[in-house]
Parts: sequence; C-alpha cells; structure tokens
Amino acid sequence: MGTLYSLLLLMGILTAGQAQRSFVTAFLENISRTSSTTLELHIVTYDKAATVSISVSQQSFNHTVVIDRDSSSAVTIGYEYMIYERQPISKAVIVTSDEDISVYAFYTNIESADAMACLPQGDLGTEYYIFTSGKGTANQFAVANGGDNAVWVNITVSGSLILNGVQYENQDTFTFSLGYQQVIQFQSTNDLTGTRVTASASVAVFSGNKCFTGPSNACDVLVEQLYPVQSWGRLFAVFPLLNHTQDIVDVMAANADTLVTTEGPEGEITQYNLQQGSHVKLNLIDSVLVKSSKPVMVSYLFQQSVAGLVIGYDPFFTSIPSMVLTRNYYKFITKEIYHNYILIVSEASSASDFYLDHKPMDLQLLPVSEINGIRGWEVYLGKIGGQHEIYHKTDNFTLLVYGIEKWVSYGYSLGQERTYPDPPLSSPTEEPESPAALRCLSHGAVYQLPLSVVFEAHLGVHDIHLEDPQCQAEQEGNVAVIKVPFNRCGSRVLDEGGKTLYVNTVYGTIPGTSIHRIEVPVSCEMERNETLGFNLHPKVTDVVSQGHYNVSLKLYNSEAFDDLITLYPFEIDLPGNVYVEFKVESDDKNLQIFAENCKSSPSLEDGDQSYSLIEHGCSQDSTLHSHPVSDHRVQRISFHLFKFDDLPEVYLACNVIICHGGSSPNRCSQGCINRRHRRAARSPRHELASARLSQGPIVFKQDGRPQRILGERPFPSLVFVAVICGLGLVAVGALMLQRRYYKTREYSLLPDTDCQQ
Ligand SMILES: *[C@@H]1O[C@H](CO)[C@@H](O)[C@H](O)[C@H]1NC(C)=O
Ligand SMILES: *[C@@H]1O[C@H](CO)[C@@H](O)[C@H](O)[C@H]1NC(C)=O
Ligand SMILES: *[C@@H]1O[C@H](CO)[C@@H](O)[C@H](O)[C@H]1NC(C)=O
Ligand SMILES: *[C@@H]1O[C@H](CO)[C@@H](O)[C@H](O)[C@H]1NC(C)=O
Ligand SMILES: *[C@@H]1O[C@H](CO)[C@@H](O)[C@H](O)[C@H]1NC(C)=O
Ligand SMILES: *[C@@H]1O[C@H](CO)[C@@H](O)[C@H](O)[C@H]1NC(C)=O
Ligand SMILES: *[C@@H]1O[C@H](CO)[C@@H](O)[C@H](O)[C@H]1NC(C)=O
Repeated sequence: MGTLYSLLLLMGILTAGQAQRSFVTAFLENISRTSSTTLELHIVTYDKAATVSISVSQQSFNHTVVIDRDSSSAVTIGYEYMIYERQPISKAVIVTSDEDISVYAFYTNIESADAMACLPQGDLGTEYYIFTSGKGTANQFAVANGGDNAVWVNITVSGSLILNGVQYENQDTFTFSLGYQQVIQFQSTNDLTGTRVTASASVAVFSGNKCFTGPSNACDVLVEQLYPVQSWGRLFAVFPLLNHTQDIVDVMAANADTLVTTEGPEGEITQYNLQQGSHVKLNLIDSVLVKSSKPVMVSYLFQQSVAGLVIGYDPFFTSIPSMVLTRNYYKFITKEIYHNYILIVSEASSASDFYLDHKPMDLQLLPVSEINGIRGWEVYLGKIGGQHEIYHKTDNFTLLVYGIEKWVSYGYSLGQERTYPDPPLSSPTEEPESPAALRCLSHGAVYQLPLSVVFEAHLGVHDIHLEDPQCQAEQEGNVAVIKVPFNRCGSRVLDEGGKTLYVNTVYGTIPGTSIHRIEVPVSCEMERNETLGFNLHPKVTDVVSQGHYNVSLKLYNSEAFDDLITLYPFEIDLPGNVYVEFKVESDDKNLQIFAENCKSSPSLEDGDQSYSLIEHGCSQDSTLHSHPVSDHRVQRISFHLFKFDDLPEVYLACNVIICHGGSSPNRCSQGCINRRHRRAARSPRHELASARLSQGPIVFKQDGRPQRILGERPFPSLVFVAVICGLGLVAVGALMLQRRYYKTREYSLLPDTDCQQ
C-alpha cells in the first residue's frame, strides 16, 4: 500500500500545479545517430522567474531548471532520445513551465544543424499538411502527443509510406493511436509533401529531411515544427535571405479551389489553382507576395551555398509566418558559433522605432526590400549567442532568425503563433516598481534605481554612474542596477567610531556636461565584530518516482483461454462468443484487477453508437458471463458478439481499475455498485489507479470473402499504461491502447496531390 499511496500523493500534487505554458517537441532522426548529435532546448523567460521541467518518459528523463526572470537556459537532450523506431514510442519531449516562457530547439551537430521555434500547446491543432523537400534520402515527419490522453491519428498519404511492412500509396488512409507522450516518425524516399495528418485531439507535427541533398551533394538535416491548418494565412511576404536566388518557396492548400496569386516586385502576377493537399513550388529569385483565396501554408527552403560571408554553409527549412500581424515584441535565441541574422517583416511606417536588446536600431541605414508597402530588413547580428529582445513601439512585425557557418546553418520563424507572452512595456498592468534600494555585501554594494526615475530625469541607464564615470549602471528588467565595488570606482574608506564605512556617490549626468540630475550618496557601514557559528538543517528527502502497471486486454477463441488471438482484424461468425481476459502483469500477487466499464462501438471514435457491456462493474448485457480465476490479477469474461446494423467492425474499450489487496475494502472487491451507493464508493481512497484499454477490430466474415489482414507478423503483445489519478476531485483514467495498425481504403476521390511547376 505504501507505494501506491505515495503514487497518489505525488500525482495529487502534480494535478494541483497548473502549468502556465507547455510544449511538446521531438528529436527527429538523422543518418548518423551518434553522441555528437544533440537537441538543445533553449528556454527564455519573460518578466517572472520560471520553474521549467523537461521530461521524456522513455528512460525517465526528467530535468527541472529554475530560470531567472528575463534570462535563458539550455537543456541538452542526448542522442539516445533521437527517434529511429518505426512505431509509436514514448520519446516526445515535454516542456512545462509555471510562468511564461518560449522554447527554441536547436538540432546540433558539427556537420549539420537546424532549429525550430516550438509552438505552445495552445497553438497546436488537429489538422496538418506535411512539407518535405523531396530531395535526398528519407523525407520524414513526426507526430507527437503532448496531451494527457491517447489520440487517434489518421494519415492520408501523398507519396508512399511503409508502416509495419504494409505499403501505403497516394491517397491511402490509415489510422493508429498515440499514447500519452508518444511520438511516431515516418520516413520515405518519396516526397511526402501534401500528406494529410488529422487527429482526434491536438498534436504537434514536425517535418523535414533526414538527409537533404541540394545543389551540392551534401547530406543535411532539415527540421521545422509545422503550423496547423487553423493558423494558416492568406497573405505572405517572402524575401530571399542573404541575396539567394536559388531558394525554394512552397505554397500548400488545404481546400479545394484555392486560388493562389503571386506578385513580384515589378507587379508581375502569376496564378495557380490548388486543390486540397496540392502545392506549388516556386524558385525564389526576388521578393514575392503570396495571396490566396483560402488559407495556405508557405514553407521556405534555404539552399546551401559555396560562397558568401561563409564558404560552404548548409540549408535550412522554415515556415513563413502570414501577414496577420499580432506581435510587436519577441524574445529569441542565437548561437555564437554562427553568423546570425534576423529578417524583420513589417508595414511599420517608422523604421526608427525598433529596439534590439534595449537599444534603438537604425533600420534607415540598412538596405530594405519592399513589396506593396511591406518591407523586409535583413539585420546582421554577428557571432553572438544568447537571448535577445526586439520591440517596436507601435507596429507589429514577423521575424525570421537564422545563422550560417561552415557546414551548418539554422533558421526559424516567429509571428504566426497565437499564444505568446504579452510585451512587457505595452502591458496595461505594469508591475509596481521597486523603490531605490541599497544592499551592502561583503565585497561591495548594489544600488537599484527604478527606470521611471531615470526616464523622468530624461536620462539613459548608462548616464547613471559612480564618482568614477566609467562605472555605469546596467538595465535589469525595469530597474537600473549599479554595482559599487569597495576598492574602485571612487569608493573611499572612512573609520568612524569603531565602524568601517565605504562611501561613494551615484550620479545621473546629462551626457557631455557636468550637470547632475540625480545625486545619491551611498555608504555601507561594516560591522567589525562578527559572530561566527554554523547552522545545520539535516534533511531527509523522500524519493518517489512514477511507475506504470502493465495492463493487458486479450481476446481468446474459447472458454479455455488458451488460444490467444494475435491477428487483427479478427474475423468471427455470428452468432459467436468472445472471450476477454484482463490482466495486470506484475509480480505483486496482492494486486487485483477489475473491469469497471466496458463499451463496444463500431468505430474508433467516441461516437454516438456504442453499447455498454459493463457499467460501474455491473453487467449490462444478459449474455455476459464471468469466468472466475483464482489469481486476482486476472479477470475473465465472455459475451455473445453482436453487430451494429450493417457496420462491419466492432471495437471494445474498457476502463479497468487496479487495487491493492492490502487496502480493504477496495473498489475491486466491491464488484457491482448500483446507482444508490455509487457516490460513497467513488471516494478516492478506493479508486487506486485506472486505465483504459481497447481492442479491435473484430470483423464479421462476409460471404466467405476473406477480409484483408494487414501486418506481417503478430504484433507485440503488450504495451504500457499511464495512470493519472488525483487525490480529491480529480480521478481520470487515461490510457493505453494496444497498437494496431490497420488500413482503411478511402474511395472518396482526392484531387491530384502535386502540381509542381
Ligand atoms: C547527419 O548525417 C550525416 C551523414 O551521416 C552526417 O554527416 C551529419 O553529421 C549528421 N548530422 C547530424 C545533425 O547528426
Ligand atoms: C519532473 O520533475 C518535476 C519536479 O521534480 C515534476 O514537477 C514533474 O512533474 C516531473 N515530470 C514527470 C513527467 O515526471
Ligand atoms: C479518421 O478516419 C475515419 C474514417 O474515414 C473517420 O471516421 C474519422 O473521423 C477520422 N478521424 C480523424 C481524427 O480524423
Ligand atoms: C545583399 O545585397 C545588397 C545589395 O547589393 C548588399 O548591400 C548586402 O550586403 C547583401 N547582403 C548579403 C547578406 O550579402
Ligand atoms: C498588433 O497586434 C495586436 C494584437 O496582438 C493588435 O491588437 C493590434 O491592433 C496590432 N496592431 C497593428 C498596428 O496591427
Ligand atoms: C563582540 O560581540 C559580542 C557579542 O555581541 C560581545 O560579547 C563582545 O563584547 C564584542 N566584542 C567587541 C570587541 O566588541
Ligand atoms: C511490460 O510488458 C512489456 C512487454 O511484455 C515488457 O517488456 C515490460 O518489461 C513490462 N513492464 C513491466 C513494468 O513489467
């Protein structure tokens, strides 16, 4: 009982802490799976310090970092979390934070790199279209589930995909489920562009290439997190980066009869009529405006180059944000190994109101590309790393951040997300500013002055200095901070009545004059008589870790329960019996399993047509029989199979509860609870852990015509269970479904999937 109790306690605490922001990302495969390849997550904070946890259920990776306000931190995900499996795998990388943060994922290797801006959970969607370059080996994409429940995913293929030995061609659709924190990666030598992904709940989708071969014969990784269809746009301004003339821009449609118009700088107009999942690839020679009658996705493939600032840099892939401009403030990350650039795209009337890292930027001095009133400024930031902040006083803009170096490059975009932190300055509820304060430390003092005081004096932060004018203040958030060392910067030492005093003066001076608008004498009085001692707080730390029970649901052909059905779909004649076994696979003989609810339905979706076999442990079907087993870890039932009208398939989904025999009374030994007693029985002390299992499909034999059975071998027999419960009110069973891939043939006619020009 001890462990289970702790488990509940731990989870109770987890449900209590509401995350302010969460993200799910994934480490897509590259050809070389070696320790030199990592996924670096760079996390930036805004005006509050944040506690951020990064976890991958596979191998229980769980790091927690506390990051100061207005700063950044990096967490490295090792190559062992790179996805190479061809099945759903618990390698989704989950990032949660108690305060606003942004996350940038850098795919890092000495010979190949890229980066992506991670979309917050709230920006994810249920429908996506894949873009891959089509060049080189292994076009790839991945779908990740960062939500709390399993999701069903449908893939409609463009190109060709192999899964579990089954080849899916153009317009084939297949379905599978992704459990909590699971991700699946698909690869193909064919271009997968136009492949449609839909899901029963929000998922994150990533795409790119494992080994892209552009103009040179290199092999480079490309990766980007895609925007869901719901946040696509109708107006895009695309500017060639670094004066490139060979880059590719791809425009993808999600709806039939999407009229796409491209407009060049001289007003040259070309039109394309796109169908659902079809796309057009443009060679980007000059700036172009892309307009469309229905929402589209625009992708940018930056080609490698052998000349320029860096001899021989690599390609990258990024999305182009649409011109639905919603942000005038961004924080972003660069890395110092690169020559870093940003491209600012804006309709701003005043180019001089941009601030980069708190300093005004003079965009007037930079070459600008303009198309139809929309301007693009490419700004060279240099080889600097770390977090940056960019801001415009009034106008919104989008941002591409990219960098090049020998053999590498990265690029990501910002501006299309719909959930993001508020800009600190335009926020109407500004935090109360801290008053001026002096702190005396052992080696010096720190004096803080609210920025408002500095600005009211019409001074800048660097106009605040000590008696030695070289010693200036720095800005930290909304205060000017000045350090007062005891041995420099004009500090003097005074000996007064047994006390040592260090003194200096903080001035705010009008630049180029000796006029002080601010003058504050500061002194630190240091005790000479120190009492030394020490204080110990011995601490005992409980180590508790989250575990999973292995719970299975298996179907058998007969009452003997010795002829397991391993091939799905499983065909059966009516009338017939189905024999079902639930089992908790554990060495603890005191565990008990109990099927609380079982529903059958004709499809995987939570549809309206379902039939209850068991509810609250009570049989709802007169043919339902229980087959007693002495081992309480096993429960067996059987029932007469039935059909839903003329629908060919039946699925079974059950909620099972796992109890520990040591806790008595418990829900498992209570059995059927009728309506009147249910409230009492639902007290959380009894409900220890619950899981949802499902199995299917069962297919009815038709006229002796054999049903297709897909998959070459029996599937691995079991899975895992994630259990979520809570102490008080929250008691949710989430969980795992047997992985069954099966294919459904779609006869609906999809339009041509490629209209490459
Ligand atoms: C990707 O694979 C290629 C070919 O093996 C290798 O040269 C490159 O370093 C790898 N890149 C990464 C990021 O692992
Ligand atoms: C990781 O650890 C942190 C703090 O210890 C905890 O809040 C978080 O829920 C853990 N995540 C997982 C998935 O175990
Ligand atoms: C998956 O496809 C099936 C069959 O076409 C459809 O009924 C279901 O709604 C689809 N589910 C999702 C999540 O798109
Ligand atoms: C692109 O060309 C313009 C005009 O010739 C030049 O001023 C600018 O420096 C070039 N940019 C790069 C990154 O080479
Ligand atoms: C900028 O975006 C905000 C929403 O974030 C919007 O309210 C505002 O109107 C936009 N400003 C302009 C000039 O488009
Ligand atoms: C130092 O402080 C201790 C405790 O406050 C006091 O008893 C002692 O007399 C002090 N010594 C001097 C030299 O001031
Ligand atoms: C769960 O079952 C799988 C497959 O049978 C097995 O590999 C794994 O070790 C089991 N896990 C536990 C915790 O028993």
